[in-house]
Amino acid sequence: MSEKKPTPGPATTAERIADFAERLKRLDEAQKAATEKQKAKGKNSAMARIMQLVDPGTGFTEIDKFVRSRGDSFGDSGKRPDRDAVIMGVGRIHGREVGIFSQDFSVFGGSLGEAAGAKIVKLQEYALKAGVPIIGILDSGGARIQEGVTALGKYGEIFRLNTQSSGVIPQFSIICGPAAGGAVYSPALTDFVVMVDKTSQMFVTGPDVIKAVTGEDVGMEELGGAETHSVRTGVSHYLASDEPDAFDYVRSVLAYLPQNNLAEHPLYASVVSETPTEADKELDVIIPDSANQPYDMLDVIARSVDDDSFLEVQPLFAPNIIIGFARVEGKPVGVVANQPKEMAGTLNIEASEKAARFVRFCDAFGLPIITLVDVPGFLPGTDQEWQGVIRRGAKLLYAYSEATVPLITVITRKAYGGAYIVMGSKHLGADINMAWPTAELAVMGGQGAVNILYRAEIKEAEENGEDVAALRAKLASEYTQNVASPFLAAERGEIDNVIYPHMTRIAIIRSMRALGTKRASMPAKKHGNIPL
Ligand code: HXC
Repeated sequence: MSEKKPTPGPATTAERIADFAERLKRLDEAQKAATEKQKAKGKNSAMARIMQLVDPGTGFTEIDKFVRSRGDSFGDSGKRPDRDAVIMGVGRIHGREVGIFSQDFSVFGGSLGEAAGAKIVKLQEYALKAGVPIIGILDSGGARIQEGVTALGKYGEIFRLNTQSSGVIPQFSIICGPAAGGAVYSPALTDFVVMVDKTSQMFVTGPDVIKAVTGEDVGMEELGGAETHSVRTGVSHYLASDEPDAFDYVRSVLAYLPQNNLAEHPLYASVVSETPTEADKELDVIIPDSANQPYDMLDVIARSVDDDSFLEVQPLFAPNIIIGFARVEGKPVGVVANQPKEMAGTLNIEASEKAARFVRFCDAFGLPIITLVDVPGFLPGTDQEWQGVIRRGAKLLYAYSEATVPLITVITRKAYGGAYIVMGSKHLGADINMAWPTAELAVMGGQGAVNILYRAEIKEAEENGEDVAALRAKLASEYTQNVASPFLAAERGEIDNVIYPHMTRIAIIRSMRALGTKRASMPAKKHGNIPL
């Protein structure tokens, strides 16, 4: 049998250059075809998405452009596209490098097999080594069915690198299409997940499997659409109205973050007034006279940090707690605040988990945390108890207790019970704790305390036909004055200072300056065991 002769390749330099140009042309044609295929589905191509994400005019250096699948798996022989189902490389955002991969749904439904998986792994290894953030744009049918266990293995490697990168480089996932099966777990391991309204879906098992196994009827959008995950589950940190909005949000978040856990923070020029402004003075009248009346904590946040610098994270999930990034004198910080407008600002499981993950993120990347407190306690009820508020609420305690970044806390009104301790109290290690004169720090609110402490007196007043409501109000007011007063807490050094509300922004600036050189560390250990 005669041996198959290799086809003669280009011999001269000119031929080799021409051959290279031909190969690039083929890749460009593949790219054009991909764009058309996506367009027909009303979607952007993987490359167009990257170009929308990076700084305009800075380009994108593609890596592994020539990588192709082997094309010898079950049912795909002969189908060996010039490009595999992901584009990856290095781009610039705000003038700093970022690793980006973008799944190409036009090739095998963006599915992940050996070749595409290896590209993502290579990018993750680069990002971790170079200390640059990584952004994944996902649009994929999940593991490439033809490639069986090889595809699953690549997912495993990606998950492991996601985990190793956690706390070292910021990781983002932008979901621009389906993310099905185990494929959802790479985004879940990243720091921020952004979903595009009506375009992206994430689920472990899809509607068909659910129907077959449980008989439940549920549509794709309801099961795992962007709204479901942004409002109900908290898997998504931002519900983008469209793809450009998703890319803008990620760019905005990156503007607050260092490249990695050892890098300098991005600083913005900022001239701050050190005398109270008219806006600052509005805080003196923000707390209603009635303890049960709400106000908007976003108004307090806006007056506590640099103008227009607050960027909320997960605004639609657990709105009873607010988290987000801001700047103080141009330096990035994380903000955690109870929202009295929602469920009276109580802490529940969702709020605790939302804030705990954010506190840990800020701590990992060296961002000081400003905590604004108005919390009547943990939400009571069997629903919360049976869903494990004990272990799940403990996450926030754990997160604050292990944080070594500067921690600055301002109590605006209620700080009751366990929730007082949880919300960045001095006892968990906060550095500077202040309270407004309107603050109430106690085991519980006045009304609740009176019901327990003065049960006999109230019963007697009832029997004597006295005005019980007036008696309750008087006793509650006495309790608030005598036990819950911020001055009592200040007398004992439980808080460091009582400040005028209008001095909040200035006090935070000065606290940040005072803590700029803070050094703190946890006892040496392999890692802790956060109650998961
Ligand atoms: C190979 C795939 C694929 C996959 C889609 N395609 N998913 N090829 N492996 N996983 C191909 C289709 O055959 C089709 O090829 C093309 O991509 C477009 O798919 P359509 O179905 O036409 O698109 P659409 O109608 O938009 O539906 C998209 C979809 C659907 C909802 C994602 O394709 C789908 O349900 N795919 C399978 C999802 C899934 O079960 N994946 C495995 C999950 S388990 P042609 O040639 O016709 O254009 C998993 C395990 C991870 O991921 C484990 C980690 C531990």
